[in-house]
Amino acid sequence: MANVVIVGTQWGDEGKGKVVDLLTNYADYVVRFQGGNNAGHTLVVEGKQYIFHLIPSGILYENKKCMIGNGVVIDPAILLSEMNELTEAGLPVSPERLTISQNAHLIMPYHKLLDGASESAKKDGTKIGTTGRGIGPCYGDKILRSGIKAGDILDESLFREKLRENIDEKNFLLTTKYGAKPISFDEILAAYLDHAEILAPYIGNVSVELDRARKAGKHILFEGAQGTQLDVDHGTYPFVTSSNTISGNACTGSGFGPSHIDQVIGILKAYTTRVGEGPFPSELFDETGEALQKKGGEFGATTGRKRRCGWLDAVVANEAVRLNGITGLAITKLDVLSGEKSLKTAVSYEVDGKRYEAMPGNIRTTARLKPVYEEMPGWQEDISKARNIDDLPAKARDYIKRIEELTETPTTLLSVGPGREETILLRNPFEK
Ligand code: GDP
Ligand code: IMO
Ligand code: MG
Repeated sequence: MANVVIVGTQWGDEGKGKVVDLLTNYADYVVRFQGGNNAGHTLVVEGKQYIFHLIPSGILYENKKCMIGNGVVIDPAILLSEMNELTEAGLPVSPERLTISQNAHLIMPYHKLLDGASESAKKDGTKIGTTGRGIGPCYGDKILRSGIKAGDILDESLFREKLRENIDEKNFLLTTKYGAKPISFDEILAAYLDHAEILAPYIGNVSVELDRARKAGKHILFEGAQGTQLDVDHGTYPFVTSSNTISGNACTGSGFGPSHIDQVIGILKAYTTRVGEGPFPSELFDETGEALQKKGGEFGATTGRKRRCGWLDAVVANEAVRLNGITGLAITKLDVLSGEKSLKTAVSYEVDGKRYEAMPGNIRTTARLKPVYEEMPGWQEDISKARNIDDLPAKARDYIKRIEELTETPTTLLSVGPGREETILLRNPFEK
């Protein structure tokens, strides 16, 4: 048996959903461990596109078990609508196929209102460009110990008490600080008790279930959301999300012991994108950036915003290798680079005559980083039909080899299109 963690190495949207769906073939369990419906994970299977925000990307396999760990923040209405969409697509979700941790915190309507209000109140240059899904305020309440957990809505009197305290505080904030309308206790109570009725059979102890699975020799796949540079501790703070996105949180966010993790696969887009505000050293503001945005179809899977595009950044990749303990890279969207005359890769940064091989701690310095590039010739061929490494043109193989050298990390798989089959699998991470 082997247990594998998948993480994003950049600023999210690296193609985690596609890779998780593909590797679920070799797994028995798929577990989300952080983030919420700020994530948008896209799968293309037999020509049909699915976008999941909360449900693990393993859900298309009928005989596999999916789990939402304690580290995830859940908007119950969104979860229920994803479950309904799957039912309509002929893949009904049942408690046999999905467990939700009793300890996962719930996103409440006031979290979304506060997310929007605090963003609007920020001056230009300090806005984060959040997804507006209530992620930050929900994690904030968790850390402040005033959050409401999935298990709490199964106990009406406990839920009423916690909701009352929260509504009093949030209405004060909404009306006094933000000049917004107050929210209704009764409406939220009724809606969440309705959700509780449907979700009750799904709510359980993910940690215990995973431990049982591990002891039975099952393969467990942990599905990260966002990316390493969006990690609240290690990313480009404050332009980050509100959870730890790195592999260490696969354990904390699901209740699984670190000594049982065998492999960490880092998903690396062959170029870089970022959605929302914040520093992005290798960002392109010219026609090459626009071309990558168009060719790569770089629009946010959650908010539909245009993604900012730039060259591959080996400093960012190396941060990810170090912070996550990455054992193999999944290099995605290689097909999008076809036709580029030459390809640049940032190998270090410079600011005020000083060289940086790692991200500086000061956000103002990070915002001024100038990448030091190396350049390689690109390839012109369409590579989307490649299914073996030898099907790739020599220049594409050179590009991959250079990434492996710069990161001192081997490649596990290459992705040459959005479809499940548009993949070159070099190593099965579940085989030791
Ligand atoms: P995630 O958040 O990391 O799961 O990534 P997203 O789903 O938000 O964004 C990745 C986008 O790229 C989606 O539209 C995928 O269908 C698409 N995609 C994934 N891998 C490839 C690839 O190798 N080539 C191309 N052209 N598209 C890909
Ligand atoms: P996946 O899992 C890309 C970004 C937002 C914003 C910042 C904070 O699809 O890779 P938040 O709503 O989390 O408080 O927003 O983080 N962000 C993402 N960017 N992909 C994601 O998820 C993201 N989730 C959050 O755009 O800049
Ligand atoms: Mg995404």
